[in-house]
Amino acid sequence: MDDLTPYLENLGLGGWRTYETVGSTNDIALAWGEKGAADWSLVVAESQTAGRGRGGRQWLSAPGCGLWFSLVLRPLPGEIEYFPRFTALAALGLVSALANLGLRAKIKWPNDVLLASKKVAGILVEANWQGGRADAIVVGMGVNVTAGCVPPADTLRYPATCIEEARGSPVNRWALLGDLLSKMREYRNVLMHAEFVKAWNSHLAMRGEQICFRALLDEEPQTGIVQGVNGAGELEVRKPEGVLIRLVAGEILIDRE
Ligand code: BTN
Repeated sequence: MDDLTPYLENLGLGGWRTYETVGSTNDIALAWGEKGAADWSLVVAESQTAGRGRGGRQWLSAPGCGLWFSLVLRPLPGEIEYFPRFTALAALGLVSALANLGLRAKIKWPNDVLLASKKVAGILVEANWQGGRADAIVVGMGVNVTAGCVPPADTLRYPATCIEEARGSPVNRWALLGDLLSKMREYRNVLMHAEFVKAWNSHLAMRGEQICFRALLDEEPQTGIVQGVNGAGELEVRKPEGVLIRLVAGEILIDRE
């Protein structure tokens, strides 16, 4: 594993731990959170053997081609009320860091980042809930940087890409990580404000477009037009008959961009 000190030392992290191979960085971060990790403690691995995504899906995490990391955040007073926004926090951080590389990324509700309408990153936020209270939130993120970590198309539910394919030139993974963490820190300052939801909506994929979606991961697909994300982090979709649905969980199946 490379020495990340030059990229991470000035970010005000609570600490960081790097690993060659782990099961899942989220597991390491959850355990570290229980043992008192400070706010903004970071776990980064070169590869994961049991990387996981939403709905218990597998997240392939080969070495040398992506960013696989988890951040431990200690919720500030009031922040836990805005739990769904922690996923958007990571997504907005990546969108801003990619803009610095000349790329226009979009956020596919609830937890993906897209480049050219294909998935380039996924986010998995977890917490140890104790008596309805979480004193550590773990924000896990996987970012495909080079082609080596894009899974074969026939194994995917949604088309995937990597940053280098979209950019057409090499990217320094660790510089990107540093930039994305510093953007996340900026967005965290406004996490509880209306400005945060405005930023989320301004980078939301498929806004005003017809989508096919499931209201719950195991439900039948439906169609509707994306209106935007509301303050509770729900995706508002207008059905053809005019009814407005607010998605709390669920997923978008087809991108008609
Ligand atoms: C998804 O698309 O469903 C979310 C994928 C999240 C993957 C990242 S990689 C780092 C962290 N560790 C994990 O096991 N999962 C997240």
